[in-house]
Amino acid sequence: MRCVPARMGSPLHITVFRERTIELIAPRAGGLYVDVTTGLGGHTEALLEASGPDGRVVCIDRDPTAIERSRERLVRFGDRVEFHQTTMSDVRRALAGRRVDGLVADLGVSSPQLDEAERGMSFRFDGPLDMRMDLEGPVTAWSLVRDLREDALANVIYEYGEERRSRPIARSIKRAIEAGEMETTKQLASAIYRVMGPPRFGQIDPATRTFQALRIAVNDELGELERMLDALPEVLADGGVAAVISFHSLEDRIVKHTLRAMECVEVMTKKPLEPDDDECRENPRARSAKLRAARRLPRDTQEDA
Ligand SMILES: C[S@@+](CC[C@H](N)C(=O)[O-])C[C@H]1O[C@@H](n2cnc3c(N)ncnc32)[C@H](O)[C@@H]1O
Repeated sequence: MRCVPARMGSPLHITVFRERTIELIAPRAGGLYVDVTTGLGGHTEALLEASGPDGRVVCIDRDPTAIERSRERLVRFGDRVEFHQTTMSDVRRALAGRRVDGLVADLGVSSPQLDEAERGMSFRFDGPLDMRMDLEGPVTAWSLVRDLREDALANVIYEYGEERRSRPIARSIKRAIEAGEMETTKQLASAIYRVMGPPRFGQIDPATRTFQALRIAVNDELGELERMLDALPEVLADGGVAAVISFHSLEDRIVKHTLRAMECVEVMTKKPLEPDDDECRENPRARSAKLRAARRLPRDTQEDA
């Protein structure tokens, strides 16, 4: 499978599983779809193209810059697309009673979010300790590491980063705060390297797991995912398909168990779809991607019409 690069001015984000998502959802003319993680609009664009001339897509993203960029990219589709700057857990309200023939969730962060230093999401660039996708929530990475007690911080790093050395890392972060050395992503990375050792060429950066953990906590990513999945039985039309792309085991576990436990859907992917070698070469971010999909079974006559 080939990925289609989504070029929007400078930031580049390659859409993961673009074709396979469309194959599973099988959009049709006149259908209604929702993309709860619009990002730079790669999946939305594919849904609109496949559902022409009059299929519609409701776009959701919590990041105002993502909404702005996808709006520019998708302008040629006119009123076939509508935008909501909100969270995926708010999907019911955004749909306002409408049921959709397909839903896409491409979880996590986009390449621009990672690559723009001022978002503070990456140890590769020096930026403020922020990590908020919506740029406005009350909790930042800085307030989190400052306000959590050392043991609670270690628990976050362990649970959301699956980082075995969470306790010494939390201690090192707290020491750096006391020393007044915890304002930037590079300072956070240094506190982690003091425990884990410096990054080595060709190996995963030792700060990866801790950064992931803090980002998940700042944005309540797992809670958001759970609440969005809870809405599926209500928002999917009969036969409607939800396709969810996850990037780490915590997310994939939630998707797998929630879809399996849902009586009103049929799981379409007994095993998750994974990227092939071409896709991984072209897009290193795809390496850990897993795609699962489920179809809404028809409501019986007793159920809400
Ligand atoms: C991986 S990107 C999506 C890329 C998109 N599929 C494309 O091809 O351009 C994930 C996007 O989801 C958004 N996002 C993540 N969690 C969210 C949530 N809980 N609610 C709404 N948007 C969310 C992020 O802001 C980001 O723009």
